[in-house]
Amino acid sequence: MSNRLVGLLAALLPLATLTALAAEPRTSARVASPDARITVEVTTDNEGRASYAVSRDGRPVIAPSRLGLMFTDTRKFERNLAIVDQHTQAHDERWEQPWGERRQMRDHHNALRVTLAETAGPKRRFDVVFRVFDDGVGFRYNIPKQPGLDRLSIAEELTEFDIADAATAWWIPAFEWNREEYIYHRTPVDQVGQAQTPITLRTGDGLHLSIHEAALVDYSGMNLARVDGRRFRAALTPGIGAAKVEVATPFATPWRTIQIADRAGGLVESGLILNLNAPNALGDVSWVRPMKYVGIWWEMHLDRKTWASGPKHGTTTAHAIRHIDFAAANGFGGVLVEGWNVGWDGDWFGNGETFSFTRPYPDFDIEAVTRHARDKGVTLIGHHETSGHAAHYESQLDDAMALYGRLGVQAVKTGYVADAGQAKVRGDDGALHYAWHEGQAMVRHHQKVVEAAAAQHISVNPHEPVKDTGLRRTYPNLVTREGARGMEYNAWGQPGNPPEHEATLVYTRLLAGPMDFTPGIFGMDTKSGTPMATTLAKQLALYVVIYSPLQMAADLLEHYESRPEAFQFVRDVPVDWEETRALDGAVGEFAVIARRERGGDDWYLGAVTDDTARTVALPLDFLDPDRRYTAQIYRDGDGAGWRTDPHAIAIESRDVGAGDTLSIAMASGGGQAVRFIAR
Ligand code: NOJ
Ligand code: CA
Repeated sequence: MSNRLVGLLAALLPLATLTALAAEPRTSARVASPDARITVEVTTDNEGRASYAVSRDGRPVIAPSRLGLMFTDTRKFERNLAIVDQHTQAHDERWEQPWGERRQMRDHHNALRVTLAETAGPKRRFDVVFRVFDDGVGFRYNIPKQPGLDRLSIAEELTEFDIADAATAWWIPAFEWNREEYIYHRTPVDQVGQAQTPITLRTGDGLHLSIHEAALVDYSGMNLARVDGRRFRAALTPGIGAAKVEVATPFATPWRTIQIADRAGGLVESGLILNLNAPNALGDVSWVRPMKYVGIWWEMHLDRKTWASGPKHGTTTAHAIRHIDFAAANGFGGVLVEGWNVGWDGDWFGNGETFSFTRPYPDFDIEAVTRHARDKGVTLIGHHETSGHAAHYESQLDDAMALYGRLGVQAVKTGYVADAGQAKVRGDDGALHYAWHEGQAMVRHHQKVVEAAAAQHISVNPHEPVKDTGLRRTYPNLVTREGARGMEYNAWGQPGNPPEHEATLVYTRLLAGPMDFTPGIFGMDTKSGTPMATTLAKQLALYVVIYSPLQMAADLLEHYESRPEAFQFVRDVPVDWEETRALDGAVGEFAVIARRERGGDDWYLGAVTDDTARTVALPLDFLDPDRRYTAQIYRDGDGAGWRTDPHAIAIESRDVGAGDTLSIAMASGGGQAVRFIAR
């Protein structure tokens, strides 16, 4: 019941009734954000079912939505519940990211802990803990150890999200074979099917919401199944047994999150997901090194080289050395080597068991290559493709990481190419089980890998991963990941990524955290011959628009050598930032992002558009008002457009200040990149 309603009732009811009301057990609890705009109210109904509701400025955002858990071996937590205790607490803390899209973070929230107890039967109890920030809400279940609940065998979460207003939704389907690698749908919210999170919503009056989760640890990933109308229920990813999650009590689930912003960019600037994660568990992480890298990679996706051994083998000693020399000459930190290790011959998609993570192919002298890299101040980015066979990988994990540790390899890209539901893990019974990429067993596997890597001071970049839920705060070596359609789809075509793809990712997948999208294609060749929906200027802009502390220059080296002027931006752009602003944009249409380099005064701006050519008038008021800047502008040139001339680019310099407005003109499928050099 809202405060206003309580006030109204108080005015209407005779005094005697009011006193009687106050004497009854509490059926609601509420808490507001520090700025008092967002309110959460928890209530129980006359059957003892618990719900929560979220409103902003007095208007409903999430209509009353059910809370609860269902088990495989005992009665569910859903009915006959009473609020037996409640406790609120204010919190205001500043913390620093060791690396990130911004250095300074502020965790400012009001918390509400509601204890729900069964009024009948075994009288079990659990807490729901809410944290309400100015930019949204997080909540989770805390289940204490108690008689009959030493372990939880969770069949499903009964958490609901009933969207109060009609909205447009941007979403990808859940439980489909290609995991997270789908083109985003844009539909009315009441036409969403089963969706993955994060899902982004925009209501008719322009309120932006993102529903996701934070701190996915020892649990299964949450998806959303639309029940009816605009009401969604959590649909956990299946486990390897009857239960979706098996844990011992006491246990706290991941946070269910609802980010709320007036503009699309407000979602990008929100720190809510990171704030809900536990602090750094690794101590000194000065060894985690954000960097740009090149690699032996795009040529495999174009079928010009192979991962497998043979005449077209990509990762040979000579080819790796060529890449190391190029990286060193251009200020890049790393070189990715895919297909260096035995196991790629035959059908590597299905081959999980044949991979060795310590034996190089004979034409790749890993000792000599890593020695050369160290001499040049460059690191190899190692590669562990597992074909989803996590159990096989785990059987070699410590040796694999020890090898990289000994050779000074500072980062590893892991890969789990297997259809959804076809990863392989070893269960507690010792047997092999098929598993979903985001089920509890794979969540545990990824944590094992991150910890084994941390022991050797190695950073991790998983492909076909578990979705990002902000664990980089707790494990700062979990630097980036894939988890969406990346650049590789443009190499394959049929279809490639659509022109609005990046302007959608900014406000969907990227809200979860960094992505190894692998930008920087200059050549525009594709295997299928279908054109890439991009311009060269857009490829440069992606270095700012898509945040990743490991950021690839993904193209063939000769394509950079043949376009040195455009390549200069890729050489200059940092990967670690002091602050980030999402200045303008609309979900799936365009995005304008500016970031100031970590420890420096220069700003970098990236702007991308969809199929529509557009000009954005951008006030430069984010710049320091006391300085002048040289703006090095890389814009779509005359005639540019993804269908017409993707390579047309104009590069020019201008003197600008904070009082100026920059006119950012972008071609169809195009973009713009700007470096503001402080003088
Ligand atoms: C899929 C990854 O996304 C890609 O980057 C990698 O090259 C292949 N798997 C092979 O591991
Ligand atoms: Ca992939």
